Amino acid sequence: MQATTQMSAQRPVRRAAAGASSPSTAAWFRLAAAYLVVAVALGIAMGASGNFALRPVHAHVGLLGWTGLALAGLIYRAFPEAGASRLAAVHFWLFNLALPPMMGALAALLLGHPQALPVLVGSQFVVAAGVLAFVANVFLNVGSAPRDSAHAAGAAAIEVEAR
Ligand code: HEM
Repeated sequence: MQATTQMSAQRPVRRAAAGASSPSTAAWFRLAAAYLVVAVALGIAMGASGNFALRPVHAHVGLLGWTGLALAGLIYRAFPEAGASRLAAVHFWLFNLALPPMMGALAALLLGHPQALPVLVGSQFVVAAGVLAFVANVFLNVGSAPRDSAHAAGAAAIEVEAR
């Protein structure tokens, strides 16, 4: 009972640190899952049609979209200070606003529409800026040990028992 009170008293501190603009880690995971669906659908379509023209789109949706977002979500969940930072919000918005037009423009280019090149070039720089925000966040806000919430809860309970 006392331990519960102690743990719930800690929660507002973490929420306040997150700030209004920080995306939740669930948002990273949901978008990652959406990209996985697109990558898998494109892979199946390529295999079924025998037309592999969009292979680079498939690979980038899978690796940047699915793997990149899922890994970022895991890192931000393991290191809440990094996940709650302004850099995480910059990473989230730059990356997720620019990746769909980048993939669309790459697909258009591969299907023979060279006029898509400026969109591809512009959006890839925005995605790269999002990646730089992530790298800066990792160097600035990822500590030497992940914050293990189960461990923190256990420590809080022991602290209460000791009183
Ligand atoms: C059911 C799921 C998937 C299917 C059916 C599928 C299908 C394919 C096919 C047909 C190719 C082309 C193979 C060839 O050129 O001979 C390919 C290539 C590739 N796939 Fe997938 N794929 C799937 C999931 C994924 C995922 C989740 C990722 C990334 C996380 C991924 C990354 C790649 C990469 C990097 C290549 C090589 C691209 C290249 O050589 O340009 N695939 N996949």
